[in-house]
Amino acid sequence: MDRGQGKNQRSRICLLISLSALFWFFVMVFHFEGDMIINTAAIPRNLMRRTVENRSDPCGGRYIYVHNLPPIFNEDMLKDCTTLSPWTNMCKFTVNAGLGPPLENHDTAVFSSTGWYATDQFAVDLIFLNRMKQYQCLTNDSSLAAAVFVPFYAGFDVARYLWGHSSISQRDAASVALIRWLVKRPEWRVMGGKDHFLVGGRITWDFRRLSDEESDWGNKLLLLPEGRNMTMLVVESSPWNSNDYAIPYPTYLHPRSDSDLVIWQNRMRRQRRRNLVCFAGAPRPDNPKSIREHIIRQCRKSNSCKLLECGWDSKKCHTPTRIMKMFQRSIFCLQPPGDSYTRRSAFDSILAGCIPVFFHPASAYTQYRWHLPKNYSVYSVFIPENEVRKKRVSIEGMLRGIGRERVKEMREAVINLIPGIVYADPRYKLEKTKDAFDLAVEGVIRKVRKVRRDILEGRGEEQQEFIEQLSWKYGLLDEGATLGPHEWDPFFSKPSEDSGFL
Ligand SMILES: *[C@@H]1O[C@H](CO)[C@@H](O)[C@H](O)[C@H]1NC(C)=O
Ligand SMILES: *[C@@H]1O[C@H](CO)[C@@H](O)[C@H](O)[C@H]1NC(C)=O
Ligand SMILES: *[C@@H]1O[C@H](CO)[C@@H](O)[C@H](O)[C@H]1NC(C)=O
Ligand SMILES: *[C@@H]1O[C@H](CO)[C@@H](O)[C@H](O)[C@H]1NC(C)=O
Repeated sequence: MDRGQGKNQRSRICLLISLSALFWFFVMVFHFEGDMIINTAAIPRNLMRRTVENRSDPCGGRYIYVHNLPPIFNEDMLKDCTTLSPWTNMCKFTVNAGLGPPLENHDTAVFSSTGWYATDQFAVDLIFLNRMKQYQCLTNDSSLAAAVFVPFYAGFDVARYLWGHSSISQRDAASVALIRWLVKRPEWRVMGGKDHFLVGGRITWDFRRLSDEESDWGNKLLLLPEGRNMTMLVVESSPWNSNDYAIPYPTYLHPRSDSDLVIWQNRMRRQRRRNLVCFAGAPRPDNPKSIREHIIRQCRKSNSCKLLECGWDSKKCHTPTRIMKMFQRSIFCLQPPGDSYTRRSAFDSILAGCIPVFFHPASAYTQYRWHLPKNYSVYSVFIPENEVRKKRVSIEGMLRGIGRERVKEMREAVINLIPGIVYADPRYKLEKTKDAFDLAVEGVIRKVRKVRRDILEGRGEEQQEFIEQLSWKYGLLDEGATLGPHEWDPFFSKPSEDSGFL
């Protein structure tokens, strides 16, 4: 009874609010007449609607227009692959459509028969573009497009200058040239670039230089006014900004068919796992905030924890076979932050059917919102890093406390995530399965659709600016919920000082 009445009252209040909102909407429209009308008229809403509503068009509402960029923004970089990184011979990793060299398969105890490559963790620029080339709904008519793809190798570009003595103008040169090219195109004017997206397969901090001091890290692609309008897909996004979205790091498996995946998933279901828990990584002695020392110490003391210790000089940690073998034989894989919040290793562990244990919500939960379930307890264990730092928790003890049935459920959930976190081999085509690329494109299209609707319905931008600092919360909200205090607030306080990895 009470509830019914409450509901009625609420809906009356809602009606009043909507009516007054409508009133203000009209007031605003007439007030800002000039701008608004020019702006919205530019959006070809009739065309878009025609493709969305056309039920006999399987691509309705999903068309992507790909800009035909001058080769200096992509192909030329591959030709000069020796310049792409001072550490790594990237030429080796740009072969096979970006998948890198095939993994020698003499150790079939670790890999299945097809689809395994020693993929570089920062190769998504290239893999993504090659996957885009076979996207089934490409169009040359940009007025039909749900989104516009900019095939710039943003990650390869910045990596050329991150180490060594480059000036900030060198580092920014390609981004500035790209934007100069883009804004002259008719496609830009439609939404000021808000329907454009690009990929930089590195962490967001490489594209967000804090100042124009020569000593500061990275370029400023994501901070340029035009860069702020576009959507950038990166392997680690900023919790405090809304123009970047996280997509998975590439793993070593690139299936050629749906059955490659099914075979692998079944194998991971049957896999015997003798270790309770494992960790592959290096300590961070220079970073007082890092919990890696604690984790390594706890692991060394335990008989049920396997450790693959990495150092600058150690190759074994970068040997896919050793890592994958250890992950496949473990029930839980520890994933503490490294130089930044996220790690490729989290995706390797999912691929191996090993339940990831996270210590910071920005290592996965606030990041890969299009690829991982919102309810993180379904597929992972969370141990707040402060508990470890203050020595209030035994990791082994805590993991032992999780019941056998629950572990089985979690592992099954992890194994079911595999198709959505791998990048399929761009030279083949999966029939039924959506891979990490497919989920990312769907996410972009949903986002652009919402922005387009907001512009058409005249929702302001001031509001979006205001909330950007709390952008990590939005992906976690339920429909209609409002921002309030959140259990993870302490993890995200004081962004600039506390992020601590620059
Ligand atoms: C609907 O889509 C089909 C298939 O792409 C196309 O042949 C047809 O012309 C479209 N109809 C309209 C009204 O756009
Ligand atoms: C777009 O145009 C190019 C060049 O004319 C052509 O090669 C390509 O197949 C076209 N793509 C689509 C999706 O129509
Ligand atoms: C960003 O997009 C808005 C439209 O939403 C547009 O008015 C503005 O000019 C764009 N900014 C740039 C730098 O193009
Ligand atoms: C999240 O998943 C856990 C484990 O399956 C479950 O116990 C819990 O009720 C779920 N929480 C929500 C909010 O759905």
